[in-house]
Amino acid sequence: MRPRRGPPRLGRRALLLSAAATLAQPRGAALATEGLRAIAARHGVAFGCAVRHRPIGDDPAYAGAVAREAALLVPEGAGKWWALRPSEDRFDFGPLDAITGFAARHGQAVRGHTLVWHAAMEAWTLRALEEGERRARGLLEAHIARVLAHTAPAIRDWDVANEAVANPWDTTELLKDSPWLRALGPGYLDLAFRLARAADATLTLTYNDYGCEHDTPHDDEKRRRVLVLVRGFRDRGVPVDAVGLQGHLHRDLPFSARKVTGFVRDLRALGLGVLVTELDVIEPEIHGETVGGVAPGPEAPDPADIAARDARAAARVHAFVSAVLEGGGRAVLTWGITDRYSWATDPAHAPRLSPLPARPLPLDAAFRPKPMWHALAAAFSGRPWP
Ligand code: G3I
Repeated sequence: MRPRRGPPRLGRRALLLSAAATLAQPRGAALATEGLRAIAARHGVAFGCAVRHRPIGDDPAYAGAVAREAALLVPEGAGKWWALRPSEDRFDFGPLDAITGFAARHGQAVRGHTLVWHAAMEAWTLRALEEGERRARGLLEAHIARVLAHTAPAIRDWDVANEAVANPWDTTELLKDSPWLRALGPGYLDLAFRLARAADATLTLTYNDYGCEHDTPHDDEKRRRVLVLVRGFRDRGVPVDAVGLQGHLHRDLPFSARKVTGFVRDLRALGLGVLVTELDVIEPEIHGETVGGVAPGPEAPDPADIAARDARAAARVHAFVSAVLEGGGRAVLTWGITDRYSWATDPAHAPRLSPLPARPLPLDAAFRPKPMWHALAAAFSGRPWP
């Protein structure tokens, strides 16, 4: 059967939910009258967020917030291997189609995440990747061709590769250990980008990574390694169009606007677009040192002092986003829009020091704008903060 193109046809329930999402205005004392998408757009910036397919279908307040705030969506999980390839004999585009369908109804663009990553693969995929280079190459070719054919009308920018550069605290190697690296050798990234270009001549091909945001020796080295990787792509004629800086900000790590702006300029000097792809804030006194190895500093706020925590998170977000825009970045996505749905509030991902909720995103769990929301609006408008 030929892969279906375009958004799915809407059933009656989906139509009702869509109408509810459009109309839904979350309740709360400090509701935004205008979304970040409109504010950012007035200043030539595309603002967006990662989305989960289930709540856009069954939580009208969430769907309403996503519709109001975001011009650009990225699936938080629905574009990953384990979502698209639950078993070898089947592709499942249902969750991804739900997101592209929602975006089409709300005038939003969608970016894809992610075609090659060391994580988020089912056991069958991992077993297959151990069966030799030919088998791995066949899997990758089939995946990229099929996925890009299916999503071509709706998704014009994909994270072709995610988090491939090794963490300096793990190894001096350039590339991170990965089932793909073990199966195909260091050329697996070149192969993935070339396959993506062969499948779609005008798709934006993005390399996405973390660890380039702060002012630590690790971040200095990670920035250097990412530049080595993308210069290598350019020298070998490998097609790559953009670099995504994830922006999982550790609120209390040292930060240098000069270094972030300089890094963005270095990437742009190579002819690459630069965007922020996964912005949110990790709070050490809540998350503990298991997330990012950051322990709370002596002057970390009292976890119960929400105003102090929010103020510090907002200041860091403003500084980071302003530095990226200063360097020439023109798109910013947060990794979620509300603290209600975030990997950073999920204890399975972000073990806690504190039983208090984490506050990583622009809207709180009741969809009220936090200082971070206002800091983003200020950064997009070129206004100082606070
Ligand atoms: O556990 C099931 C798994 O068995 C099933 O096959 C799969 C199919 O969809 O779903 C799994 O459920 C959870 C999944 O999210 C749903 O998409 C996983 O348990 C859970 O670990 C997973 O977490 C996501 C994580 O990436 C791993 O994919 C987080 O929600 C998501 O926020 C996080 O996002 C990453 C970016 O992709 C890359 N950068 C870092 C960022 C934060 O860790």
